[in-house]
Amino acid sequence: MITTILGIETSCDDTAAAIVENGYIISNKIANQEVHRSYGGVIPELASRAHQQNIIPVVEQAIAEAGITKKDINAIAFTRGPGLIGALLVGTSFAKGLSLALNIPLIEVNHLQAHILSNFIIKKNEQKSIPKFPFLCLLVSGGHTQLVVVRDFMEMEIIGQTLDDAAGEAFDKCAKVLGLPYPGGPFIDKYAKKGEPNTYHFSKPDIKNYDFSFSGLKTAFLYFIRDKINEDKYFIKDNLNNICASIQNSIIDILLDKLIKVSIEKDFKEIAIAGGVSANSELRQRVFSEGKKRKWKVYIPDFEYSTDNAAMIAITGYYKYLNNEYTNQYITPVARLKI
Ligand code: KG4
Ligand code: ZN
Repeated sequence: MITTILGIETSCDDTAAAIVENGYIISNKIANQEVHRSYGGVIPELASRAHQQNIIPVVEQAIAEAGITKKDINAIAFTRGPGLIGALLVGTSFAKGLSLALNIPLIEVNHLQAHILSNFIIKKNEQKSIPKFPFLCLLVSGGHTQLVVVRDFMEMEIIGQTLDDAAGEAFDKCAKVLGLPYPGGPFIDKYAKKGEPNTYHFSKPDIKNYDFSFSGLKTAFLYFIRDKINEDKYFIKDNLNNICASIQNSIIDILLDKLIKVSIEKDFKEIAIAGGVSANSELRQRVFSEGKKRKWKVYIPDFEYSTDNAAMIAITGYYKYLNNEYTNQYITPVARLKI
């Protein structure tokens, strides 16, 4: 028997739909919202409107690309939270309506759990190893930075998290100081490739347990740039690659210190990363090389499944479907939702 799940993601500024068939991804569509770029951040009201415009075409494209019809879908999985409430409402209402129309089950998905389970996404005919439970996951996105012990598909425990800004926020805020477009993470990644990471040094926070902090680094960076510009107004332009490589290096050092600490103290060898910042080429490289040194088995989602996508919602929906974990028409989205 074939089990086909439609996944829908609308938690922030990407409208996405994907189809999973028997645990394999067979289509994955996304409409990015360019409208926010000129504002230097996501404008919630504009995001909701753009989701409303994009959702029908994106779902239609995902179904067409999968070579199926609506009648082949067995259940609809959607992001319930966390995220922007107006944005979540569009996906939730759409999913409810379609599940009523097709008379098929509805499955709610936690966006953060889905990021972690993006490590289980496999394309048809692809040979890929997936994490073995229990494993340790560093979840790094625009709104969250957490170390999570994953005991089973839906059994996860946060053992460390950021006390202030998320790693993605640190990337984006530092990029903003440099005058780079939003979101700045990918731009820092790009310029850092041509830079020398040890050019400038920023002090690391002294946080005792498995938690993180990025607000001190962000402020230190802001003052550093301000002082340098006072001395030389072309400082950013003339040193952009080295500045990006140095700040990226500092953010990754903070993340890796804690990942390594937990792996040693809690004896984990199965290590995964997930979330938008896991798209960072240097972070991927450093986790792989630490893994080699420490005999970790490392799992990193393909680039397209690191940032927000619906394939991760569909795969999470698939595993919930196998457990008969359905929701109903009374479900409402929530802006704040924990793992
Ligand atoms: O997971 P995600 O797409 O959305 C949230 O759930 O937050 O993460 C978005 C974050 C943004 O802060 C963005 O700058 C960051 O991921 N990001 C990156 C890269 N690609 C996306 N940060 C550093 N390097 C990248 N290549
Ligand atoms: Zn996300």
